[in-house]
Amino acid sequence: MNIQQNISLKEYNTFGIDVDAKRFISVTSLKDLKQVIKSEQNIFLISGGSNILLTKNIEQLVVHLNLTGISVDNENENFAHITVSAGENWHNFVLWCISRGYGGIENLSLIPGNVGTCPIQNIGAYGVEVKDVITHVHTIEKATGKEVVFTAEQCEFGYRNSIFKNRAKDKYIVIAVRFKLTKNNHKLTTSYGAIETLLKERNINTPSITDISDAVIHIRKSKLPDPKKIGNSGSFFKNPIITINHFNQLQKKHPNIPSYKVSDTEIKVPAGWLIEKCGFKGMKIGNCGVHEKQALVLVNYGNSSGKEIYELALKIKNTVHQQFSINLEMEVNII
Ligand code: EPU
Repeated sequence: MNIQQNISLKEYNTFGIDVDAKRFISVTSLKDLKQVIKSEQNIFLISGGSNILLTKNIEQLVVHLNLTGISVDNENENFAHITVSAGENWHNFVLWCISRGYGGIENLSLIPGNVGTCPIQNIGAYGVEVKDVITHVHTIEKATGKEVVFTAEQCEFGYRNSIFKNRAKDKYIVIAVRFKLTKNNHKLTTSYGAIETLLKERNINTPSITDISDAVIHIRKSKLPDPKKIGNSGSFFKNPIITINHFNQLQKKHPNIPSYKVSDTEIKVPAGWLIEKCGFKGMKIGNCGVHEKQALVLVNYGNSSGKEIYELALKIKNTVHQQFSINLEMEVNII
């Protein structure tokens, strides 16, 4: 096993933050991964690096999870069961599925990150969440090195949430994810406003999974910065869920506040709208800022430190709290 010393992690996080790993190893086989967790008490895992904000150098051994491989376990006329290793790039996997006619994740096109992290925060976009197509999550238990398989139900999925962010946090390493995708009668989700509008503009009445993926890619490119050009981590905050009473009070003052009903007593409000209302959209502070087209996305314009971005996030959080009495939760993991 090849452990390297003092490696910059700039290429390993989509924010492009330049901190160092004292020791670093890229793991490409399950055997090596098992050996690493056997010999090291305390490791820091990094995968696609699309949901972390690094604010300091990492003292632990950084393990870059680079397990790859896609296999179709079985398929019939209607469904395919596919197991994908954790280190596969998420968007490449989506394109792979679309090129073979497997449906279910086309709405999740162009989400940054790797397959292994998709169940952890239950990635979602345009009316679809990855939990809708996951059947099993294969992991290694850190303490024992044993392989443990979670069924979708055992993953306790919620909005940007799963057991891996709660009770099972830091206890397991996701090594592969198993999906059940459709081959026929795809369950298409096109009701999301922006998709519907774009398909209409393109005169597409009976969209294919390719049409939907193309539409999502177009919408995301028009609103969200490409991490290869401007460092970012997608949505920095979760959309907060508030009580109907609280919402009614806010609506009196802001009649145009957008919202989505969650239950009879709760409403989800877009954090991007709240942040824009507080005047942050497009704001540049030092080397970082708030994206000009989507206020939910914080960006690194070049040489920002993680601390600078974190301070901006705290400023936003405090201002939103002062103005709306809403507590924004960060979606990104602060390290
Ligand atoms: N809005 C504003 N100003 C902004 C951004 C949004 O007023 O700067 C308003 C919009 O006008 C719209 C509403 O907020 O009325 C919702 O905006 P949008 O459709 O862009 O979605 P979002 O709630 O901001 C969520 C996900 C995104 C996902 C989109 C599309 C979260 C935290 N974010 O964003 O996920 O792509 O819906 O489904 O749930 C990500 O997690 O990295 C991500 C990009």
